[in-house]
Amino acid sequence: MSGLLKSSIGRKFAMALSAFFLMFFLLQHFAINITSIFPDNGATFNKLSHFMGTNGLVQYVMQPILIFGVVFHFVMGFILEMKNNSARKVSYAKNNGAANSTWMSRNMIYSGAAILAFIVLHFIDFWFPEINTKFIQGDWSGLHDGEFRYFHELQHKFVSPLRVGAYVIAFVFLALHLLHGFSSAFQSVGANNKYTRGLKTFGKIYAIGIPAGFIIIALFHHFNH
Ligand code: HEM
Repeated sequence: MSGLLKSSIGRKFAMALSAFFLMFFLLQHFAINITSIFPDNGATFNKLSHFMGTNGLVQYVMQPILIFGVVFHFVMGFILEMKNNSARKVSYAKNNGAANSTWMSRNMIYSGAAILAFIVLHFIDFWFPEINTKFIQGDWSGLHDGEFRYFHELQHKFVSPLRVGAYVIAFVFLALHLLHGFSSAFQSVGANNKYTRGLKTFGKIYAIGIPAGFIIIALFHHFNH
């Protein structure tokens, strides 16, 4: 593993693998969260959240892998950016970046930093309170006043227009990050074949559709509580 990370190609490959993993997580995270806008007053969302929040495999195997994946992706992103910058210094005078690359590809580090800031806020909002309830207070019942608490907690978080505004801005950065990240990750693992065009179209739908869906969830709860 450390051998793989010593070469530039190896680092890009590992970065791409962690990106695929996070994109898969995002899809399942979206699939669960979208149920919070179903017209069943949170019943489906509560059931799914309770399952995910109390299942041993999810809590003790998948969650630590996910946290590792998130940290790895951010750390590796910063390392790649620093290495690129030091390599670029020599040729920058001749290389007009704006002419041969997109804004998104040149600013992955900034869209990534915006997502990192969002993750910190998001963990303070949702993840730390969950860890506190379950692992510190030892309450795995998922109940508050005899009812599942997850849906009400979610609704409560989206009351503040400031928080909703911050989330929506972060989701726009997420779309920009994914728009370049998706095709770049496929390039890094060498996927260049007859499916490339189809993959690019799928990438665009994913990169815009998933963040747009998250925006809908945040706005829905802000205007319906
Ligand atoms: C409106 C949009 C979103 C809602 C309502 C939402 C909701 C939640 C909730 C309720 C949790 C706590 C789960 C638990 O630990 O039991 C959570 C955790 C988490 N969220 Fe989100 N989320 C949203 C968007 C996002 C986005 C866009 C990302 C990534 C860019 C993200 C990344 C995470 C991560 C990494 C965790 C911790 C891992 C986990 O336990 O699932 N979330 N989110």
